[in-house]
Amino acid sequence: MRDTRVVVLISGNGSNLQALIDAVADGMLPVSIRAVISNRADAYGLGRAADAGIPTHVLDHREFENSCEFCLALKECVNRYTPGLVVLAGFMRILDSKFVTHFAKRLINVHPSLLPKYPGLHTHRRVLEHGDPIHGASVHFVTEDLDAGPVIIQGRVDVGPSDTPDSLQQKVHKLEHAILPTAVRWIAQERLSVVGVRVLLDGQVSPEQGLVAESISTQYSAPVVE
Ligand code: GRF
Repeated sequence: MRDTRVVVLISGNGSNLQALIDAVADGMLPVSIRAVISNRADAYGLGRAADAGIPTHVLDHREFENSCEFCLALKECVNRYTPGLVVLAGFMRILDSKFVTHFAKRLINVHPSLLPKYPGLHTHRRVLEHGDPIHGASVHFVTEDLDAGPVIIQGRVDVGPSDTPDSLQQKVHKLEHAILPTAVRWIAQERLSVVGVRVLLDGQVSPEQGLVAESISTQYSAPVVE
């Protein structure tokens, strides 16, 4: 089986990108990350990609007439690498329907909440405001509706009385670094299928639409990425 060609889109720190890079280096992920594209020239993750010898591009959305033009240029840039999978790993621009349709079923996103709860921004703060006892992260296929595509995998954490948005962000990041490589591996191994809004793993619905945190370590235990 040939390695799946992956393009990763980022906007900032890129710790999820680093988790993917490390998983590939550890032989845990049968993919090859062909390019990293950022909409911000100052994204720290660009350096992570360069350190790993991965080609990088910056497409600054502010230099385009409108979002359509930006998405078109982005599509062309991504397509140069003929990817089997495009990963949004902290990419902070909304992609238009043409982009999403073009990459349908090979476009995934990591989101810091237990979707369908808390799509959009400021998820940690919103969890605390609502007094939720459980929080987490999700990896999902991207559809035209924001953060609403079929969920591939989720990880959960308990919310404690002393938690703050920052402490939750740290806990959730750790989960993301485990569930994102797992989701990418399942896709590379062609183990997923989408039936309606559900994702099947090896033809089965996974419990509660994803894995709970306790079971993540049996799948792939990602090293801690700062
Ligand atoms: C992650 O929390 C991800 O869920 C969200 O943006 C953050 C990116 O973090 N979409 P990093 O850049 O991968 O460190």
